[in-house]
Amino acid sequence: MGALYRIALLLCCVLLQYTAAAESSLIVTRGTQSKTFQLSELLAHPAAIEVQTDASDEAYKRPMRYRAVPIETLLPDLHKDADASVQFIALDGYAPVIAAKRLTGIGSASAYLAIEPSPGAWPALAPNKPSAGPFYLVWRDASGAAVAPSEWPYQIASIRVQSALAARFPKIVPDSQASARVWAGFAAYEKHCFGCHTMNRQGDAKMGPDLNVPMNATEYFAESALRKLVRDPKSVREWNAGVMPGFDPGRLGEEELDAIIAYLKHMAGRKVAQP
Ligand code: HEC
Repeated sequence: MGALYRIALLLCCVLLQYTAAAESSLIVTRGTQSKTFQLSELLAHPAAIEVQTDASDEAYKRPMRYRAVPIETLLPDLHKDADASVQFIALDGYAPVIAAKRLTGIGSASAYLAIEPSPGAWPALAPNKPSAGPFYLVWRDASGAAVAPSEWPYQIASIRVQSALAARFPKIVPDSQASARVWAGFAAYEKHCFGCHTMNRQGDAKMGPDLNVPMNATEYFAESALRKLVRDPKSVREWNAGVMPGFDPGRLGEEELDAIIAYLKHMAGRKVAQP
């Protein structure tokens, strides 16, 4: 192999790695599932089309054209999650929430995720400010439909579907910036534990003790004991009244248990004040 060829190959690799690292991506979390979409993948998506907005375009205040995918591309069957809400987390941490019902259509208006083809391809939002990219929620046929200004979130980094429970019980919800694992743990906790335990004194069922206040279970159980207790409560302590069922790995996977523990640890930093 010639030296020049080898250098060219090396340069290619370096360049490829560089572009891969620099490319924006979008994280979509729904329940315990998290999926990452690369920007290039969304641009080339078969559902991507050109979308024209009108003067109600919140970021630019004038009609614009975007390459965009319907929101259902990222969140299939959203209508089945009618009571859920969807949080759009911006690069700066701003995290507005939109009801899932509204995202499936507001009057004539339909929601699309606009994709900025490359950094700087869209105008700056203000002098010396970045653009609305890399991802921007836009509405087609919005004129006359009651789409609120807050329903055009821009500079989106991730999207998260929250359960209806999260809206009813805001104190059980992790911080919007928490890791994907904490959010997966929250979904698993809702599914497996919230039916019996309150969190921060919120919840319908008070069969078992609150797992966060006054002390969080991760504060007084060594992690190994906590894991054992969830798998098989009687392997930790026994008495007649023991009600909590054990969760074997078939019912609660190892990853789900890890995630629940990450969620519990996270909530220790989000305790409600004494009543
Ligand atoms: C069917 C109801 C039920 C479910 C579901 C349930 N628990 Fe429990 N849990 C209890 C009850 C009741 C207790 C009190 C001890 C007992 O009676 O078993 C308890 C006790 C505990 C304790 C010990 C608290 C302490 O201070 O002694 C921890 C920790 C705990 N549960 C965590 C969990 C986690 C994590 C989940 C979800 C994976 C879960 N539980 C699901 C009912 C439940």
